Amino acid sequence: MAANSDSIDARIPASCPASVSQILYPSWHHDLAGLKPLLTVPGRASVQEPTTGETPLHAAIRACAPANRRRQGALDDADEDEDEDKARENARAVVHELFMSGAIWNDVDDNNETPGCVAARLGLADLYALCVEAGVRAELLFGLLDGYEELESDDDDDDDEEDEEDEKVKEKGEDNVEGEGKGEKDVENTERDGAQEEEEEAEVVVVDSDRAFVPPKGTVGPNVNSADYLRSNLTYSDGKLVDSAQNGVMMAWETSIMRASVDALLPGLPTGKKILNVGFGMGIVDGMFAATRPEKHHVIEAHPSVLKHISSSPDSKFGREWEAGGPSEGAYKVHGGRWQDVVPKLLEQGETYDAIYFDTFGEDYGQLRMFFTEYVPALLEDQGRFGFFNGLGADRKICYDVYAQVVEMHLSDAGMDVEWRELEVDMKDLGKEGEGEWEGVKRRYWTLDKYRLPTCTLLG
Ligand SMILES: C[S@@+](CC[C@H](N)C(=O)[O-])C[C@H]1O[C@@H](n2cnc3c(N)ncnc32)[C@H](O)[C@@H]1O
Repeated sequence: MAANSDSIDARIPASCPASVSQILYPSWHHDLAGLKPLLTVPGRASVQEPTTGETPLHAAIRACAPANRRRQGALDDADEDEDEDKARENARAVVHELFMSGAIWNDVDDNNETPGCVAARLGLADLYALCVEAGVRAELLFGLLDGYEELESDDDDDDDEEDEEDEKVKEKGEDNVEGEGKGEKDVENTERDGAQEEEEEAEVVVVDSDRAFVPPKGTVGPNVNSADYLRSNLTYSDGKLVDSAQNGVMMAWETSIMRASVDALLPGLPTGKKILNVGFGMGIVDGMFAATRPEKHHVIEAHPSVLKHISSSPDSKFGREWEAGGPSEGAYKVHGGRWQDVVPKLLEQGETYDAIYFDTFGEDYGQLRMFFTEYVPALLEDQGRFGFFNGLGADRKICYDVYAQVVEMHLSDAGMDVEWRELEVDMKDLGKEGEGEWEGVKRRYWTLDKYRLPTCTLLG
């Protein structure tokens, strides 16, 4: 984005309603004393300029853009550094105050940027860190309130009213960041939920008109849900697996991530290990696991089209012959069904594994958390390793950073330690929506040039 479009005139246009601009101006000018009394009214910290989507957080952060500091003459002073430090301290104080007053960490503006995205683009590491901290707090709170969307089952179809309500919220851009596709888990907006929402009801007219901004089309991701996904038709084509809405379920460009995941779960690639993989997809990771000649190799897969592909496609390597070729009866097996139904049975049978990998599609973060909290500790051998496809919040850096911390805390609650390894992702053919690898895929679910690979072990 050109620096000029970060200017105060561009972001807070003359048409901005007074109820919004009266918050945006002191936020932009880091006028904490002027701002504080205004924030005592609920909802004020999260107002949004109706055309640019500027929130007080965006304003406070954007004002630190070098071009804006120059415009104010601040960078011409002899005491430039001192001024700069002071200005940033003031900005931090305002951002902190806004978060404490209920500002929303992941609202997007008309450029599809959250306040944290603006901070990252402008190289404002301290302000970015405040946004990440606020995101982590919000997501942890959301988890505590058990606010993760329940996985729909086939008999949940009568939830239409709720779905409609969700849709309205999305249209308003209040749950604005993530869809739930391949590894891309729902990063929900907690501040608008529960008790606070009730509290705000009395203010609802004011709050709504002050949050009338609608994010541009394409900035809100598709909301893939598990039940619909499992009912949809899948197509295997050159280098990808897509559902009937053209959402990418699995793509060949992830092969290097699968390779690194297998190498991390089975260091030195020893033979004779016991392996569980949840989610077959294109069978990439299973092909790599199989090459180690394991003692046990179990796969759990829920989608009927994938199961059909496994059992009857001419190029399938995991059909009946593979199952029959295991070292003992049932040692090599594809368990058809949702892991939620299959895993309890494996536990009952006393199965344990040296390596467990988890990579499903269309499920929210709550399901991954349930898997590693309720099942992994019992399924994993003491010295075993657990890994998962880390696409949590992968369509924007700040969400990825927030979720790395959230998942680490939840893994620790579950009695697990996590080691992260950063991998470079070659973005040459992944950089543009609808082009290169994304041709024929509805939406780019990966936008980052670094993949953070988690390897988890049991504590103590
Ligand atoms: C992203 S793909 C896995 C790709 C795989 N890692 C590979 O290397 O090809 C996700 C897979 O999980 C399956 N899946 C989704 N939900 C599931 C569930 N609840 N239980 C088991 N499998 C599920 C999907 O049908 C899909 O085949």
